[in-house]
Amino acid sequence: MAYSIVALVGSLRKESFTLKIANAMAKLAPSSLKLEVVTLHGLSFFNQDLEANPPADWLALREKIQAANGVLFVTPEYNRSIPGVLKNAIDVASRPYGKSSFLGKPVGIVSNSPGPLGGIAAAKHLQNILPGICGPILGQPEIYLNAVGDAFDEKGELTKESLKTVLEQYLAAFAAFVERQSR
Ligand code: FNR
Repeated sequence: MAYSIVALVGSLRKESFTLKIANAMAKLAPSSLKLEVVTLHGLSFFNQDLEANPPADWLALREKIQAANGVLFVTPEYNRSIPGVLKNAIDVASRPYGKSSFLGKPVGIVSNSPGPLGGIAAAKHLQNILPGICGPILGQPEIYLNAVGDAFDEKGELTKESLKTVLEQYLAAFAAFVERQSR
């Protein structure tokens, strides 16, 4: 049986490199992992006033995460942090208080950028945000994917071999991590 992993995508852009990376990861994942790529289009803004009667889209996201064996955050960097859509999804899934959908789930963080720094600041912000609401975060290997702009063909398929290799290495480590945490 494969472990089910939700891969949350931090960009809404149609031609998003982040989305293409998440899709590539779903294809490259070892057979012990089954990745579901989840985009965050249309997710209602978190509003504490709605907590007593949460919107259906909040409940759907929470249930998806609760049903998974682990979560991958695949994100670009916006202004040296994570995009608002991803922070909103984290806020939505972290509630109700004490009942975070991420509780106990092993987590991986995969940042990227077409620029030289690989979105490392976004990844570091996730490492600050997440510990109180999720399970253990894979610390090693780290993965900050830089220069992703020329990594895909016109169909959105990953063609850059160096990127494929690091994603495969990371996925193998994440699979072993999820297995250790799930024992
Ligand atoms: C960016 N970009 C960016 N890149 C980076 O490496 N560090 C940063 O701090 C930022 N800041 C930033 C802010 C905003 C508002 C935008 C729109 C963009 C560039 C960003 O990496 C680039 O647009 C990516 O293509 C976004 O990811 P997707 O949509 O391709 O997944």
